[in-house]
Amino acid sequence: MATLEIHDLHVSVDAENGPREILKGVDLTIKQGETHAVMGPNGSGKSTLAYSLAGHPKYTVTGGTVTLDGEDVLEMSVDERARAGVFLAMQYPVEVPGVSVSNFLRTSATAIRGEAPKLRTWVKEVREAMDQLSMDPAFAERNVNEGFSGGEKKRHEILQLELLKPKIAILDETDSGLDVDALRIVSEGVNRVRSTGDVGTLLITHYTRILRYIKPDYVHVFANGRIVESGGAELADQLENEGYDKYVKGGASA
Ligand SMILES: Nc1ncnc2c1ncn2[C@@H]1O[C@H](COP(=O)(O)OP(=O)(O)O)[C@@H](O)[C@H]1O
Ligand SMILES: [Mg+2]
Repeated sequence: MATLEIHDLHVSVDAENGPREILKGVDLTIKQGETHAVMGPNGSGKSTLAYSLAGHPKYTVTGGTVTLDGEDVLEMSVDERARAGVFLAMQYPVEVPGVSVSNFLRTSATAIRGEAPKLRTWVKEVREAMDQLSMDPAFAERNVNEGFSGGEKKRHEILQLELLKPKIAILDETDSGLDVDALRIVSEGVNRVRSTGDVGTLLITHYTRILRYIKPDYVHVFANGRIVESGGAELADQLENEGYDKYVKGGASA
């Protein structure tokens, strides 16, 4: 069982007026097969955590450790992290002009699997995965994220998740911008991947809405750059009723 261990993680962002500490000692352990929801107010550092785990160059780790099965993730390049099985679905995915969804997926799968998937089985695999996500086959020929609606961006990310089969999936605000139907389809995709038992999921969200569809094993409250409380799914219900007020009093929350 793969295990991602985050210990006392401190991260600064390179802002215009110099470095600013955003993560102030994050501790979190995610095992394959587990689903952890990280919930917190806007500006508390949730996306910073996601980007730091994926190796985004704007974020500087100033302390702590991140390991995947004992291997130092922080020493790995972005590509090496992906190959090791860490997947990030970003809150704001970027456009990749001139690269079709179909080529992008095949290139990613080749990089991660270590060899190009056999064309015939691959085409079938992609078609089935797209079908399950109610995606039009013509979508595969569009350029990555170019002019995608919010729902299309998220479906595309879940499509990657289904095809790339990571060990650890970090989903940053996967519910944002989705209408109820899209939310259901995307959640079903996450649940399909989850039901294999092969993926550990870090589900980052501001709202409890998606947790009606994806039941987390653990819920963590994130405030002011660290986890301030952990519990089971019932903690999400409490947040739904009470909000984040009691966690951010006196703390900085933008
Ligand atoms: N690239 C950046 N440049 C400057 N400030 C940043 C950058 N990324 C994040 N921040 C700041 O870090 C804080 C946490 O942001 P973020 O991680 O996006 O929070 P969340 O995802 O919880 O809403 C915010 O105050 C934000 O303005
Ligand atoms: Mg965010």
